[in-house]
Amino acid sequence: MRNPVAMVSRTRSEYRRGEHLSLSVVHRETGKCIGRIGLRGLSWTHQKVESLSYWIDPHFWNQGYATEASYFLCREAFERLGLRRIASQALDRNIASLRVLRKLGFVEEGRERAAVCVKGKCMDMVLFGLLRKEMRPANRVSSAWSRRS
Ligand SMILES: CC(C)(COP(=O)(O)OP(=O)(O)OC[C@H]1O[C@@H](n2cnc3c(N)ncnc32)[C@H](O)[C@@H]1OP(=O)(O)O)[C@@H](O)C(=O)NCCC(=O)NCCS
Repeated sequence: MRNPVAMVSRTRSEYRRGEHLSLSVVHRETGKCIGRIGLRGLSWTHQKVESLSYWIDPHFWNQGYATEASYFLCREAFERLGLRRIASQALDRNIASLRVLRKLGFVEEGRERAAVCVKGKCMDMVLFGLLRKEMRPANRVSSAWSRRS
């Protein structure tokens, strides 16, 4: 959806219906907002979520922030919200995003071929899922996050 007003409006109504959670990623030392993370498509009936998504300010890339934020959001989703399954998707050339998901224990479940085409160049979308029992303990997530803390 390219229209930002429509996007905000859709996000708000999904939030009101309890289907969407969107949070800021805040830098502990400075209190500065350095990114966003969210769960979209929450299904309370099936105890699952369709998409974990994240964005980090490029100045803070490759320091483990997406991994750390995703780890805590997934843990809360399983333990506090009682979800059983979290899905996520990443374009096959988005190396950093693929790495974040794999580090956390997400399992590749499929591939949506030629899912996104820009100026005639098409990319596959890799589809991932994480079940509660597959969530790794924090000390087994090897990452810039563990090297930083
Ligand atoms: C994807 C994104 C959130 C990652 O954020 P980040 O804070 O840099 O991620 P992390 O530092 O936690 O992890 C990135 C990992 O990818 C690795 N990586 C990054 N670029 C890489 C490359 N070109 N080749 C190999 N590994 C690479 C990093 O080394 C790191 O792994 P490590 O911790 O084992 O060293 C960030 O790049 C971003 O905001 N991109 C734009 C938005 C987006 O694509 N969101 C995902 C779709 S929902």
